[in-house]
Amino acid sequence: MAISHATRNRRTALVTGATGVIGRAIVEGLSSVGTLQVLPTGRNPDKVTTLYPSHSGKVLPGIVLDQGSKDSILALKNQWDFPLHVLVINASATPKKKELTAEGIETQWAVNVLGYHRLIKAMAPLLFRSSQEAGEPSRIVLVASCWAGDLNLSDPEFKQRPYDNGSAYRQSKQAERMLAYAWAIRLQEQYGMFSTGTYKGCPFVTVNACHPGEVNTPLSNSLGFGGHESPSEGADTPVWVATAKELASVSGGWFTYRKRSVCRFASDTVSVGKLWDLVESYG
Ligand SMILES: NC(=O)c1ccc[n+]([C@@H]2O[C@H](COP(=O)([O-])OP(=O)(O)OC[C@H]3O[C@@H](n4cnc5c(N)ncnc54)[C@H](OP(=O)(O)O)[C@@H]3O)[C@@H](O)[C@H]2O)c1
Repeated sequence: MAISHATRNRRTALVTGATGVIGRAIVEGLSSVGTLQVLPTGRNPDKVTTLYPSHSGKVLPGIVLDQGSKDSILALKNQWDFPLHVLVINASATPKKKELTAEGIETQWAVNVLGYHRLIKAMAPLLFRSSQEAGEPSRIVLVASCWAGDLNLSDPEFKQRPYDNGSAYRQSKQAERMLAYAWAIRLQEQYGMFSTGTYKGCPFVTVNACHPGEVNTPLSNSLGFGGHESPSEGADTPVWVATAKELASVSGGWFTYRKRSVCRFASDTVSVGKLWDLVESYG
């Protein structure tokens, strides 16, 4: 596995959707921070290996990860035998017509919601162990969106209502923001906080969500938008949330253009609980 190219004395970050416009800029941004080395992942084997063919600077050779597939996520987890300190979940799909994954799940729900949830669940124990070894919190960053809302917990896969990709996207981005908050609480309950050292009182694993910015990408075009910001401007907030020293102890936050604000979806704790039960029901 590409991780065998990694160096043990560096912190390691994994980025999903690293073949996309913002994903590529996140890989570049992270690899320019301190000693971080970055493992790019993508669903398309040709694309990810063409973009990231070999170990270059602090970027490792790309590997395949289909975020819409439970098997692919579990395969990644089972192959991983290296510390992991930063997980940036960025991959999202928004097909114009309703599509189902191989598991028979509506694609946006599978990739943008279950994929985010399953990846955190799969990698959290490793992130925790890595934070203990490093003596520094590990971080999970969910790339979500300001354009979010109208989550329908009774019909998440558009079985009872007509599909349109904007509605499916908006509800998926709302769900990501709610899950970021739910996981922040859960991981702090599960693993607790550092009791000594520089990070005394900080959670072992932090989870935050952010809006990347308005960038012209296949995804934004599929939703009928362009985007006036550059890819590196779009990557700025995700990279900052993943690396800024001042955020080492912050968990459960929602960030837009490096500013923290209250997420109205995350503060609806009853719905967050219902969403948690729903995503867990998929296994
Ligand atoms: N662009 C904006 O203005 C904007 C605004 C707010 C939020 N965002 C968020 O930013 C993130 C990145 O989007 P983007 O705008 O950079 O779009 P993009 O260029 O179209 O990139 C989307 C990425 O997701 C990948 N992907 C799709 N399905 C996947 C799957 N099943 N498994 C793994 N990867 C998969 C794509 O892979 P392929 O390369 O193989 O297609 C691509 O790498 C998304 O989470 C999006 O919601 C973007």
